[in-house]
Amino acid sequence: MISPGVTTRTETTPIDAAQAIDAGQAIDAAQAIDAAEAMGASGAAGSAREPAATGAPATTREPVATGEATPATEDEFLEVRRGPTVRHLLSIADLDREGILEIMRLSDAFAEVAQRPIPKVPALRGRTVATVFMEPSTRTRLSFETAAKRLSADVMTFTAATSAAVKGESLRDTVETIDAMGIDAMVIRHQASGAPLRVTDWIGASVINAGDGTHEHPTQALLDCYTIREALTERRGGEVPADLTGLRIAIVGDIKHSRVARSNVLAFSALGAEVMLVAPPTLMPASLEGWPVTATGDLDGTLGELDVVYLLRIQSERLGEVLLPSLDEYHWRYGLTKARAAALKPEAIVMHPGPMIRGVEIAPEVADLPATLVTRQVRNGVLVRMAVLFHLLGSGVV
Ligand code: NCD
Repeated sequence: MISPGVTTRTETTPIDAAQAIDAGQAIDAAQAIDAAEAMGASGAAGSAREPAATGAPATTREPVATGEATPATEDEFLEVRRGPTVRHLLSIADLDREGILEIMRLSDAFAEVAQRPIPKVPALRGRTVATVFMEPSTRTRLSFETAAKRLSADVMTFTAATSAAVKGESLRDTVETIDAMGIDAMVIRHQASGAPLRVTDWIGASVINAGDGTHEHPTQALLDCYTIREALTERRGGEVPADLTGLRIAIVGDIKHSRVARSNVLAFSALGAEVMLVAPPTLMPASLEGWPVTATGDLDGTLGELDVVYLLRIQSERLGEVLLPSLDEYHWRYGLTKARAAALKPEAIVMHPGPMIRGVEIAPEVADLPATLVTRQVRNGVLVRMAVLFHLLGSGVV
């Protein structure tokens, strides 16, 4: 456990870091899904595959080798229809530094498309993207759906509250049903860490993790990298930086329960930034061994040296126990108040994945400052998700 004021640092490669971050997950992915499935209908225990080792390169599945010209089973039919390899984005560890930079460059191309009178390209015409959200979402779901439509894909929207999930249908039956309608990608958000990985066993489409429990939220991290790179480009008079080397980024708040923090630690450090975690001891992960970060409980002591302050919401829905004396107390010790914002370097930026809770992690006036890039993050989210969908599904010219 990290104590307030104590700073530790561990040097690791991004792959080590991905493994450490996964090892730090309280929940074993497969068990979590099986437990969640046990609460639903039958069919959950059908797939016994253990989760793939994290840190593997791109999460891809090789096709079933049939040796036959005509597909005999539904699975073989899917393999033939979809081509030799199905690609997924489950974790930032699925992309190395070059992979992240490639998404940044593709996002630049889609930024140009967004300027056009009709901000749409035919790249994914004839493809179908399904969004399957088992947890509430405003920006992530709308952002993926907008991105898919701007690539001319067809979009299917599933929301748990209006689906047969409320009648007790299992996750496996739900995703197999959606896949059977003929989709190319499934964007999934689930309360259990590891759910998207489990889904890759059950369907033939590409799976994109839109947030799984306390595990990861890779597209949030990619859009955050893109937004920081954009701010740095402006600071350098238009010169695009090679990566984020030299930047000091503090992630502040409920690190323990944050999938955004896990993905961002991996992405920021893969691009060369120095990452500092700032939180009260009860909101730090039990162990940070192998994480490429420093950690402290002393926000005030760090403000003057930061280039980016990345604030997190307290994940009240995941706490399960009382970890804070009160939200007022949290605001007083860790909130970005006006006084703290004034102590930042003039060029420092403030970020938040949303939803922001004004008056807790951020003062209302600070949320509205020009240095707070929350709406820019949302705008960039569409471009970056276009890039991810194109990277996984597209083969045409933008
Ligand atoms: C985050 C999430 O759902 O993980 N939001 C988002 O996707 N933009 C963060 C949060 O809920 O606090």
